[in-house]
Amino acid sequence: MNSKNSAQFDGTDDVFSRMAESYDMLCDLFSLYAHRVWKSHLSNKVANTPGVLFLDIAAGTGDIALRVASQLSKENRLNEKKIVLGDICHKMLSVARRKAVLKGITCEYRILDAHHLESIADNSVDILSISFAMKICDRDKVLTSAYRVLKPGGKFYCLEASRIPTRWLYAAYLLYMRLCVPVIAMIVTKGDRSAYNYLLKGIHEFPDINSFSEEVALCGFIDVNATPLSLGIVSLHEGIKAPCNT
Ligand SMILES: C[S@@+](CC[C@H](N)C(=O)[O-])C[C@H]1O[C@@H](n2cnc3c(N)ncnc32)[C@H](O)[C@@H]1O
Repeated sequence: MNSKNSAQFDGTDDVFSRMAESYDMLCDLFSLYAHRVWKSHLSNKVANTPGVLFLDIAAGTGDIALRVASQLSKENRLNEKKIVLGDICHKMLSVARRKAVLKGITCEYRILDAHHLESIADNSVDILSISFAMKICDRDKVLTSAYRVLKPGGKFYCLEASRIPTRWLYAAYLLYMRLCVPVIAMIVTKGDRSAYNYLLKGIHEFPDINSFSEEVALCGFIDVNATPLSLGIVSLHEGIKAPCNT
């Protein structure tokens, strides 16, 4: 397999189905609530990016999409965007739908494999995001599919755990991931460590901020840049699909 990541979720081990109901709590506990800040950073960018069709792939329990919708709703701009959540896992999307209903938000939900985005037409999406899932996917395939479905001039965002540039902090982070996170995962998932294992494997294998930016650019995106957040624990990557006339 010509894969840029071997930590993929292959769908045969239904880890995300099993953890769907506890996923939001796990995110809070794993990140000590910091994921809310990182996700708000991305959703604020999306809400203020021009374009109608916004597709969040590997959307999980809808954290990004629902934040975008809530912000637009507060600003009376909800009619500016059509929000679509895609994920390979039906149960994660069910949790997202339930959260949206409670907030009175209407979105579209699709079972979608981020590697292929098979039911999404070429050049049809204005804004595409993926958060905390690139590391468990084949990056080449996801980037290629994202590029295919985006309109020329469309915007790509990827929020992902990064390799922390400060050595001692990276070592401390890995220690936390190795020692504390399994305990939290064991307690919350009542002994199911498989999801955690996927995530940890992906973290070790994910490239540093500059190397991943290069991968994004190699795929054809222009104006590629990346912003480290929280001392580089995560990074927000951005790129634009080249407009037709460049
Ligand atoms: C770590 S969660 C991230 C969820 C959400 N984006 C967030 O930031 O909280 C990973 C999500 O990716 C989904 N996923 C994994 N592989 C996928 C694939 N090939 N295509 C689409 N979704 C996938 C899982 O079902 C899960 O919902």
